[in-house]
Amino acid sequence: MTVLGTDVWPPAPIGTERLVLREAEARDRAAVIEINASPEVGAYVGGPRPRAELERVVPEVPGRRPGFFVVELDGAAIGTVELNAQSPDTPAERLAAGDTHLGYLFLPEAWGHGYAGEACAAALDWFSGARPGEPVVLYTQTANVRSMRLAAKLGFTERERFEAYGAEQWFGVRSPDR
Ligand SMILES: CC(C)(COP(=O)(O)OP(=O)(O)OC[C@H]1O[C@@H](n2cnc3c(N)ncnc32)[C@H](O)[C@@H]1OP(=O)(O)O)[C@@H](O)C(=O)NCCC(=O)NCCS
Repeated sequence: MTVLGTDVWPPAPIGTERLVLREAEARDRAAVIEINASPEVGAYVGGPRPRAELERVVPEVPGRRPGFFVVELDGAAIGTVELNAQSPDTPAERLAAGDTHLGYLFLPEAWGHGYAGEACAAALDWFSGARPGEPVVLYTQTANVRSMRLAAKLGFTERERFEAYGAEQWFGVRSPDR
């Protein structure tokens, strides 16, 4: 299992052409709630969560854990990218021996500009420096067309498709020596 420990986390903020990736701070709480309450964001990831529940359960600093990046555009959080060894909401046994999993959630108004691609590529570059030689895996619904396009653009290749939660799921891997 790939553990992102204090040897690599938190990294210094990562700047890309248009974005900054950094660890979460208290000022990101509203954006994290917005993302998780959004029906568009939740459409293929289990549905939106009630805002009142989120207001209750989201901690003061949301997502304060290794591998959880907030993505900022012009000083405002527009999404999150996460690299972690936890099982996503798919049958746990499908996650190959604790491989690191990539997840991404962006506010709908930030879609269609290439921001998710730019942020994920930067996070994957960071990961390959932090844990050289480690593959990264990704799950997404095949109906999630934007996510499927992003996965292909980032270099993930299909390992298998399977049915879960009433939908076809896609399991892809990005090998380290690509
Ligand atoms: C999945 C998700 C991150 C994809 O967002 P996205 O904005 O489509 O992804 P990208 O960053 O790759 O952007 C690609 C789009 O930006 C456009 N674009 C505009 N300027 C661009 C630029 N400078 N560079 C690259 N693409 C650019 C592309 O043409 C493309 O648009 P199109 O699909 O309308 O043709 C987003 O839809 C999302 O957050 N969904 C909800 C959460 C979710 O389902 N996550 C998956 C969990 S497995």
